[in-house]
Amino acid sequence: MSKYDLGALVKPLCSWYEENKRELPWREDATPYHVWISEIMLQQTRIEAVMGYYAHFTAKLPNVKSLAEVPEDELLKLWEGLGYYNRARNLKKAAIQVMEQYEGELPADYEKLRGLAGIGNYTAGAIASIAYGIPAPAVDGNVLRVTMRFLNCDDDISKMSVRHQMEESIQSVIPEKMPGEFNQALMELGEVICIPNGMPLCDRCPLNDHCEGRAAGRQLQLPNKPEKKARRIEKKTILMLELQGRIGIRKRPADGLLAGMWEFPSLPDYRTKAALQKELEEMGLEIHALSKLPNGKHIFSHVEWHMRGYKVVLNQEPEQHIVPDLVFVKREDLERKYALPVAFHGFLQS
Ligand code: ADE
Repeated sequence: MSKYDLGALVKPLCSWYEENKRELPWREDATPYHVWISEIMLQQTRIEAVMGYYAHFTAKLPNVKSLAEVPEDELLKLWEGLGYYNRARNLKKAAIQVMEQYEGELPADYEKLRGLAGIGNYTAGAIASIAYGIPAPAVDGNVLRVTMRFLNCDDDISKMSVRHQMEESIQSVIPEKMPGEFNQALMELGEVICIPNGMPLCDRCPLNDHCEGRAAGRQLQLPNKPEKKARRIEKKTILMLELQGRIGIRKRPADGLLAGMWEFPSLPDYRTKAALQKELEEMGLEIHALSKLPNGKHIFSHVEWHMRGYKVVLNQEPEQHIVPDLVFVKREDLERKYALPVAFHGFLQS
């Protein structure tokens, strides 16, 4: 007997989806590769934001082989702006695994999918059910919100045990013949009707007659997810170094935040213009002109960067020991070839 009873949800949900499902690019040709790429992109990212990236990515890298062989810099450039760049690196790792272990075909097996880099329960379930018709659950935040409201249940959805019990409960009601449709129907209801951060659109919900959360008027209290810890704030002074029209960038370390991406050099904490000028000259930089750029702020999952930016026009290339690993590139090349995190894009405008 599974913990959560979702029997009453199946029929009205499936009928609603049949009538209302959206036309999405990855639904037109739901190959395992297309489903995989779209599901990874959709993690932590809104559908509207994913559309353009999906089209461009699948045009450049149309299959597992091309993804396995793409140079990392090119891959990161294709992902630039989507954030959570480990998703892109794991895609490539998994593509290499698929070439080596499965002759280039994503396996039609939940456990084998689960063994690929970057593929957890949710993604394995989504690929298995949508692309291969395997009855496996795909429980994401949307699904937990819909089901917990439907059941008027206060269980803490950030707990793995709750997620696993929900997977078992979905497994027990998933329609054998249309598992992919059912999983997508649940997600889609969560995205368009049973929405987060506000009152869901219960008047238009196919489950409204059966929904315990609505009956109790507790839609806004559910799902129960304890507040996350506040993010750490990092103050930074960003230096856009310019030399003969070229811009100085360097590559971030191969691990940690924004691994392998390019960046403008920076100093910890804020500087006034005068203090910065003095400090850079003491370091040995030959400054032709120094001007303030607009402030910037970027929010990552655990950290916020609060940035003060300066443009520093140089007379001479700084010596390697002063600013290590700096390369000066043309602005067009920076825009076309180098993956620069969105956090820095504001400084390029000026
Ligand atoms: N969100 C993530 N994946 C989805 C899918 N396949 N359908 C609808 N919404 C989604």
